[in-house]
Amino acid sequence: MNAVREELLWNSEVGDWSSSELFARVRPEDIIMPEQDKRDYEPILWNDLCSEFDAQYMNTWIRRSGLTLSGEFHSFVEAWSRDEYNHYLGFRRIYSLFYGESEAAITERLEARKPDFRVIDDFGRDEFLLCAVLAYDEIATTRSYIDDTEFYGSLGPSAFRDWVRWLVADEARHFMNLLRVMQGRHAHRLAELPAVLDRILEIDLTKDSYEATFVLDHHGPQFSEKMLKGCVETILSSVQKVPRVFHQPEPVRLGIRAR
Ligand SMILES: [Fe+2]
Ligand SMILES: [Fe+2]
Repeated sequence: MNAVREELLWNSEVGDWSSSELFARVRPEDIIMPEQDKRDYEPILWNDLCSEFDAQYMNTWIRRSGLTLSGEFHSFVEAWSRDEYNHYLGFRRIYSLFYGESEAAITERLEARKPDFRVIDDFGRDEFLLCAVLAYDEIATTRSYIDDTEFYGSLGPSAFRDWVRWLVADEARHFMNLLRVMQGRHAHRLAELPAVLDRILEIDLTKDSYEATFVLDHHGPQFSEKMLKGCVETILSSVQKVPRVFHQPEPVRLGIRAR
């Protein structure tokens, strides 16, 4: 029997850089940071580290969902999960440089947490909803890391400045790629988007704990209600500007028979 090979009209790219290589020669004594700042920054850094690590849990949750996913979304998830793993390695290294905890011990603490996806179960019902919740998270992350640019740039070694620049570029690309999947595969459902994003925002603003779900980890001073509402507005205005790269209406798949 001939296998069906899907011809993709769009492939997601992976960020072409390595956190491990970037920080290979940075030593704790190279870092310029007052002790108080170091202590104050710990919860923010731990939050970022957990979230990047938890992309692995999110990836597993998506793959076990049993949903039929488009080739473009598959391509997004593959590139995204590699990027997020690279970000996790970078944050783990930075945490170790700042606080002297070994990377193995940090990993052990991260793995001791257990994910619970019940809070976002509603958004795992189809690909469009998954794109919406991920896009919301990626734009919030992009903005949060942009706010951190000055902090990382002040630490001394140029690796930190390069790190945050590439990090922001990856997160912004994740966001744009999700908008492309929504516009390319789910344009007929964009009218639902304001109500879906309102629900996501409400959950994010009212829940009081983070259950290792990668998304909706927005606790801390950098995630004000105003900032998160701004993320919703940006999605709604930006998705309209993304070119519709696919011309086939859902649910036609661009499958061709392999010879
Ligand atoms: Fe990330
Ligand atoms: Fe991301």
